[in-house]
Amino acid sequence: MQTSLTELLGCRYPIIQTAMGWVADPALVSATCEAGGFGFLAGAVMTPAEVEAGIEQIKAKTDQPFGVNFHMYTPGASEIVDICIRHGVRAVSYSRSPAPDMIARLKAAGVVCIPTVGALQHAVKAVAMGADAVVVQGCEGGGHTGKVASSILLPQVISALDVPVVAAGGYKDGRGLVAALACGAAGIAMGTRFLMTRESPVPQLTKARYVGARAEEIIVSTKLDGLPQRMINNECLQTLEHKSKVGMLLLAIRNGLAFTKLTGASLFSMLTSAWRMKQSNRLGFGQTLMAANAPMLIQEAMVKGHPQNGILPSGQVAGVIDDLPAVADLINDIMCEAEDTIERLAALQKN
Ligand SMILES: Cc1cc2nc3c(=O)[nH]c(=O)nc-3n(C[C@H](O)[C@H](O)[C@H](O)COP(=O)(O)O)c2cc1C
Repeated sequence: MQTSLTELLGCRYPIIQTAMGWVADPALVSATCEAGGFGFLAGAVMTPAEVEAGIEQIKAKTDQPFGVNFHMYTPGASEIVDICIRHGVRAVSYSRSPAPDMIARLKAAGVVCIPTVGALQHAVKAVAMGADAVVVQGCEGGGHTGKVASSILLPQVISALDVPVVAAGGYKDGRGLVAALACGAAGIAMGTRFLMTRESPVPQLTKARYVGARAEEIIVSTKLDGLPQRMINNECLQTLEHKSKVGMLLLAIRNGLAFTKLTGASLFSMLTSAWRMKQSNRLGFGQTLMAANAPMLIQEAMVKGHPQNGILPSGQVAGVIDDLPAVADLINDIMCEAEDTIERLAALQKN
């Protein structure tokens, strides 16, 4: 299946595996690309050296094109731009606080710039800043998310833009792909569906919590890092929801210190990124400090495998997914179902 997205990214199918911190690792990305989709490495939670090592690992497993996701406001961002250019990475994705100078450098080197946006005004601004395509995420989507559902946001953004638009938030199958194409999208992007695969590095106990989740218990909360984020309403989130402001501040300080110890980042670089995040997201200082909670609590579930003690970012779609297929089977099934759906629709017209 060819669309403007497959042409832009050089993949066989219009299916993107989005970046997910501590989940979209080289094994998941390379499995996606080998199966005909397009995977993004989760560079936003990596140092530049880790991003480079991840790129090398992907290249060792596949010769298909792939992408890297990162935040342009972090201290290592400019170095990650250099690394992506040096390694001929096909595309980068980003969201908050895009930096015009970095976008200009990437585009001059032929790297496709494809940010994720959750609102019409952000989509328009992203294109004005040089985006070659945009991923539009409805509020059903996992991780940081907007306020408007895919069914309303997607057609609105498609009508307003003249670059390829990719639908995200709530997609998992071939019917969803055809629905997005019918709406005028150039493809779909999925996070949660790829998290729930055999190749995803998430520990089994945590994957089982995703499989058992109901759509109604996958809620949006600002308690983790001050920004609206969709996650499973587990024991850990319920504890955060009931913490006082002082309790949240103490937790943030404890997690911030643990994070600097874990990553070797200096307190100064942590505070610098927190300051940039505060400026670009117009958050209060208390809210910005809370951002320190996210990496520690997410890793508790996604890396250490303690789903009840950590945070489980998730799209609502996890509530209607009950399997953990191999990535190649997943992509094959999506494309077969998409073909069947298109045939079914064509038959409607003949009758
Ligand atoms: C566990 C998890 C981690 C995520 N981490 C990131 C991230 O590091 N960077 C990012 O841009 N988006 C992140 N997201 C958002 C996804 O890339 C994607 O936009 C979203 O999952 C799409 O919605 P869906 O889950 O309904 O498919 C994350 C989502 C999940 C579920």
